[in-house]
Amino acid sequence: MSSIINKLDKNKIPKHIAMIMDGNGRWAKEQGKNRIFGHQQGVETVRKMVEVCPRIGVEYLTLYAFSTENWSRPKFEVNALMELLVNSLRKEIKKLHENNVRIHAIGCIDDLPKKAQKKLAESAELTKNNTGLNLILALSYSAQWDIVNATKLIAGQVKSGILDIEDVTKERFSSYLSTRNFPNPELLIRTSGERRISNYLLWELAYAEFYFTNTHWPAFTEESLYEAIFDYQNRERRFGKTSEQITQ
Ligand code: IPE
Ligand code: IPE
Ligand code: MG
Repeated sequence: MSSIINKLDKNKIPKHIAMIMDGNGRWAKEQGKNRIFGHQQGVETVRKMVEVCPRIGVEYLTLYAFSTENWSRPKFEVNALMELLVNSLRKEIKKLHENNVRIHAIGCIDDLPKKAQKKLAESAELTKNNTGLNLILALSYSAQWDIVNATKLIAGQVKSGILDIEDVTKERFSSYLSTRNFPNPELLIRTSGERRISNYLLWELAYAEFYFTNTHWPAFTEESLYEAIFDYQNRERRFGKTSEQITQ
C-alpha cells in the first residue's frame, strides 16, 4: 500500500470524486450470503472512503447510494436499504461531525421514507458549519430527474417574467440542479465491472475522467482508491485542446 500512495502527485488530487458503489449483491452471493449482507459490508467501504478522502485532499465525495430506478427492486431490498441508511446515519453521525464532515443529500428526497428524510435533514443541519469533507449522498437520484426538475424551474421563472430566456446559460442552468453548490467531479469511479453511468450526474460528468474496476464495492479498499487516483493522474485532460497546447 505504501508504494502506491507514494506514487501519487499530491498536487493533482481530484477535488471532487463521484462514485457508483456497485456490486454489493454479487459480492455477497460470492460469499454465499444474501444481498443485504453485501449492502451492510458496503457501508464499511463508505466509512473507509470518508476517512481516507479528506486525508489525501479530496474535498467532495459524491456517492450514488440509491437511484430512482432502484425503487423497482423487490420491496424487501428497498426497505432494507432504507433501514440501513437510517441506522448508518444514526450510528455514524457523531463521528462524522467530530471529523468535520459536512453531509448533503441530492435527489428526490421527498420520495424517501419520512424517517430517512428526518435523519438526513438532522445530519445536514448538525454538520452545516463543518469545513472538512463534503459528503454528498445521492438518494432517489437520477440525473434525468434533476435535469427535468431544473428545466421546470427555469420554465416557470421565464413564464412569470423573473428570468429572461437569454440569460439561460450553462452556468445559470447548473444553478438549478441539485448539485449547484459543488464543483463538477474530476473523477468518476464505478466498481463491479459495469461500464455505464446508470443515470448518474449526466450534466456534471461532462468532462470527468471515468475509472472502472472489476472490484465489487464491499471489496474496494484504500489501496483501490489510490490506484484509481494514480490512473487519473496519468491521463492528459485536454478539454478540447491539442496535446501540444497542454504540455507547453
Ligand atoms: C450497489 O450494489 C448498491 C445499490 C445499487 C443500492 P448492487 O445492489 O447493485 O449490487 P449488484 O450490482 O446487484 O451486484
Ligand atoms: C447504480 O447501480 C445505482 C447505485 C449504485 C445506487 P445499479 O446496480 O442500480 O445500476 P444498473 O441498474 O446495474 O445500471
Ligand atoms: Mg448493481
